Amino acid sequence: MSHLSTPLTELLGIEHPICLGPMGLVSVPPMVAAVSEAGGLGILGTANYDSEGLREVIKQTRALTSKPFGVSIMAGFPTAEGHALVAIEEEVPFVTTSAGSPKKLAPMFRDAGIENYHVVPTVAMAMKAKESGCTGIVAEGAEGASFKSRDEVSTIVLVPQVVDATGLPVIAAGGLGDGRGLAAALCLGATGIQMGTRFIATEESPIHDNYKQRLIDLRETDTRMVGRKTGPLRVAINDCSDDMAEFESGTDDIAEIRKKVGYQKFPQAAMQGDVDGGLVVAGQVVGMVDDLPSVAGLMPAIVADAIKALDLNQAFTVR
Ligand SMILES: Cc1cc2nc3c(=O)[nH]c(=O)nc-3n(C[C@H](O)[C@H](O)[C@H](O)COP(=O)(O)O)c2cc1C
Repeated sequence: MSHLSTPLTELLGIEHPICLGPMGLVSVPPMVAAVSEAGGLGILGTANYDSEGLREVIKQTRALTSKPFGVSIMAGFPTAEGHALVAIEEEVPFVTTSAGSPKKLAPMFRDAGIENYHVVPTVAMAMKAKESGCTGIVAEGAEGASFKSRDEVSTIVLVPQVVDATGLPVIAAGGLGDGRGLAAALCLGATGIQMGTRFIATEESPIHDNYKQRLIDLRETDTRMVGRKTGPLRVAINDCSDDMAEFESGTDDIAEIRKKVGYQKFPQAAMQGDVDGGLVVAGQVVGMVDDLPSVAGLMPAIVADAIKALDLNQAFTVR
């Protein structure tokens, strides 16, 4: 089988330099375990859990795989410190932090010998993460799904600048969905990639079939940002996001916008399959999603295509 060895695969003892991005309702134990079992790194989304809930899903994931997996922590949420303590007690090897400053959490992870990569949208935020003591960076461009920075820097621009500025290992995220994307990210200096949208459209993804079919149908031009006044969120264009866009264009009442523009209607699409009335969260890479592979089939195919794109038909080590 084709093999791509990078500092990320060596650091974590995994086979493929591909991470499942943390996603509420998606990156739950069976999906995280499927990605880790297939040789990548599954990362648990934790936004929906309290501390004991997180401990429980870590245990559930461990019951499904003995391979490494990670946990993501929303650094600005009141649950952050409790989640960090659980991750440390449970000896999770890899933690990503996002949505807030890692200043308080990064030293906790460093003392515990846990890898802590902070998710950033700009070079300035990457430098702050480095100063806080984070051991690596997830550099996520504005083409990716979900919450984004107002600065809207694309992945191809962001990744090499974060690599150069920080000197830390960098995982590229946002807009990556195939082997050419993986090859490109490695050429930009990343040690691996994190995918969200591509993984939702897989056999194992625990999301309604209507949502998966909608991802297949959408083109690269079929996403938009909502929430520009509160916190930009990249989603698919549909009735739900039309309503949000119309509502926020008519008011500057931030509290009211927060009530209406956010993840509230994501379960309606993701679980109940209402992909018009509910929120379909997707990135621009959705334009290249045209099938529903198994996770176990997708990951080696991406690696094989990356090696082809790098024009190397042999075991390959990226330094
Ligand atoms: C439904 C959904 C929920 C997400 N939730 C989170 C989250 O809680 N924390 C986080 O760091 N990233 C979150 N993300 C971002 C993904 O982990 C991933 O980085 C992103 O989707 C990559 O861009 P792509 O969709 O172009 O692959 C979410 C993405 C989606 C689609």
